[in-house]
Amino acid sequence: MTKPLRIALAGLGTVGGGVIRLLDTNGALIARRAGRPIEIVAVSARDRSKDRGVDITRFAWVDDTTALANVDADVVVELVGGSDGPALALARATLAAGKSFVTANKAMLAHHGLELARAAEAANVALKFEAAVAGGVPVIKGLREGAAANEIERVYGILNGTCNFILSKMEAEGRDFADVLAEAQALGFAEADPSFDIDGVDAAHKLSLLASLAFGTQPAFADVAASGIRHVLTADIAEAASLGYRVRLLGLAESGPAGLFQRVHPHLVPIDHPLAHVTGATNAVVAEGNFVGRLLFQGPGAGDGPTASAVVADLIDIARGEFGPAFAMPAAALIEQAPADSGERRGRAYVRFTVADRVGVLAEIAAAMRDAGVSIESLMQRGASHDEGGADGSVLVAIVTHEGPERSVAQALERLRGSQSLVGQPLWMHILA
Ligand SMILES: NC(=O)c1ccc[n+]([C@@H]2O[C@H](COP(=O)([O-])OP(=O)(O)OC[C@H]3O[C@@H](n4cnc5c(N)ncnc54)[C@H](OP(=O)(O)O)[C@@H]3O)[C@@H](O)[C@H]2O)c1
Repeated sequence: MTKPLRIALAGLGTVGGGVIRLLDTNGALIARRAGRPIEIVAVSARDRSKDRGVDITRFAWVDDTTALANVDADVVVELVGGSDGPALALARATLAAGKSFVTANKAMLAHHGLELARAAEAANVALKFEAAVAGGVPVIKGLREGAAANEIERVYGILNGTCNFILSKMEAEGRDFADVLAEAQALGFAEADPSFDIDGVDAAHKLSLLASLAFGTQPAFADVAASGIRHVLTADIAEAASLGYRVRLLGLAESGPAGLFQRVHPHLVPIDHPLAHVTGATNAVVAEGNFVGRLLFQGPGAGDGPTASAVVADLIDIARGEFGPAFAMPAAALIEQAPADSGERRGRAYVRFTVADRVGVLAEIAAAMRDAGVSIESLMQRGASHDEGGADGSVLVAIVTHEGPERSVAQALERLRGSQSLVGQPLWMHILA
């Protein structure tokens, strides 16, 4: 058999350990598929003595992670994480040394993807990151290759398994956000510091990569408007259900004459849309192509097995000599598209207020909406519990608007800012069309 593809592996945690186990288990099959064996030759992490459940004494150990770039290997795989620090130092050193680089690190790519893509092209080596978006789901390959003939105007989906786990548990069991978050942390679905997940930052990293691949634009993470699910109440989920919707945290990107629009936000998803049926930690991405129509990519978005599956798929491509530019076209061809003004967007909205239970409050909200030109389709009112952020006697008022410009809703909320009638911040969710 021909020469093995030699791998230097940085990071031996959840995903790194998974890669070692996958190559141990499926090595012979992978060698047949790739045309040659894929062999790890050197590894690096923080703690050499840690028990990792796999034998790492057969690999050379390198203390300084960045020095992995200089070992006798063909490809460096980075599974450390973090947008900068050792991961970025290793990426730069590897590409500068003229070696291919594989990573699962969406944070680093969202911030430095363009620079790294240019460096990979200059060195004529691969930069691959299938595992960085939606874990085991081959959505990068799907966009780069399968849908490459299409103009894609919109890409959107459930990009964070932790948030989807929490929202679907809140929905199924009627429990509040803090309670389900604590369970997700106990089960290992959520980090001790969950803010990257629940505030939408992780999904925003992934969305910026999907948008670049889908539209041929430069990754523009700084232009993603991100908010998360902290303020979603079980009452919102119940109201949405009564209206025929489910609440999902969606990353959504569109490219058109108005510019590049990228947003991570809780949405009301119609019950007959496939994303409404994605539950638990599953991820799903929809891409709409002008010839293929609507594509749906769905599957496990995290975990050692699925993520390792995506990492090793990238290695198989490299072993076969099959790789192109990182973002599906040469970095110089990626357009720097101006961000779209969200105020110009039209859509329907769900807006929920927690209000003091007194005469005139509904009239005040209705007047603010009317004065801003927002047309109300329906209005619901119910008592709020303490869990729902309500003070004694406070009430939840939820409105659904007719289709109209987002600017009008923003103006109505601005008019109501500081009103003595409101208890806490209103929650604005967009309705997926
Ligand atoms: N977990 C998932 O399901 C998943 C899914 C998709 C993408 N990813 C991405 O995959 C990457 C790895 O995630 P993970 O879940 O495997 O993380 P993890 O379990 O925390 O493992 C991180 C590994 O990196 C090593 N490390 C941390 N800081 C280091 C440093 N300063 N220098 C050298 N090594 C260092 C750790 O060493 P020690 O073991 O010695 O402490 C550990 O082996 C991240 O970019 C993550 O976003 C993860």
